[in-house]
Amino acid sequence: MTLDIQRIRREFPERRVDYYPTIDSTMHAAAGCPVGTVVIAEEQTAGQGRHGRSWHSAAGDGIYCSIVLEPAPVLTLALGLAAADAIASITGVTCDLRWPNDVVLDGKKVAGILVQLVEGRAVAGIGINVNQDAFPEDLAAFATSLRLWTGQEACPTDLTIALLRAVESFAQEDKESILRLFTHASSYAAGRRVTVDLPNGAIVGTTAGLDASGFLIVRQDDGTDTLVLAGGVRAIGT
Ligand code: BTN
Repeated sequence: MTLDIQRIRREFPERRVDYYPTIDSTMHAAAGCPVGTVVIAEEQTAGQGRHGRSWHSAAGDGIYCSIVLEPAPVLTLALGLAAADAIASITGVTCDLRWPNDVVLDGKKVAGILVQLVEGRAVAGIGINVNQDAFPEDLAAFATSLRLWTGQEACPTDLTIALLRAVESFAQEDKESILRLFTHASSYAAGRRVTVDLPNGAIVGTTAGLDASGFLIVRQDDGTDTLVLAGGVRAIGT
């Protein structure tokens, strides 16, 4: 299914919505644009993931979008909530959130979020796997799509509109509300056995909530609490 970009523009007449049938990365196109700009592509030839990874961005299968926002505390958590909210409202599928902002179904990623600070603005990149019916062999164990999960195609235009509305809404919430909503929505926030890759090696423990800045607390079996500042969290025993 292709995007109906005119319908998206009609829904957000006050916004600048840039559209590319193909682009290297919407992150590049959005960098330097004013707050409120939305950049949407049908295909990315060099889609960027977190930690220098690439993001599989085949033509017509997914949503590839970057939104320019004011920087805010716990913005990445808010964006994960927004992506999950949009998916639920259009498909009825309830996703899990793997801290900090992977949107997952049965541990496989269905959406990912990348926030980059550029010239004092936050460029929020959101990728949603929508209508892929398969993934390359190296990704198949880690990625899924809404179509693979539900057995039905989803409308990328409806999803994009829902996503932009959800981002508007969650970006306005205060930090305490985002922390509360995330803790409620994520099975990873508390009581989950995990392994975490840290610069000095991996640790194993049980998640014990978020601190006031949104960092993940992991309690090791000797009682030591470690504050996890970046990703690299994987569930064990599931
Ligand atoms: C992750 O690794 O989970 C983050 C993936 C972010 C992918 C999106 S797709 C739209 C935007 N453009 C990019 O190149 N990356 C982000």
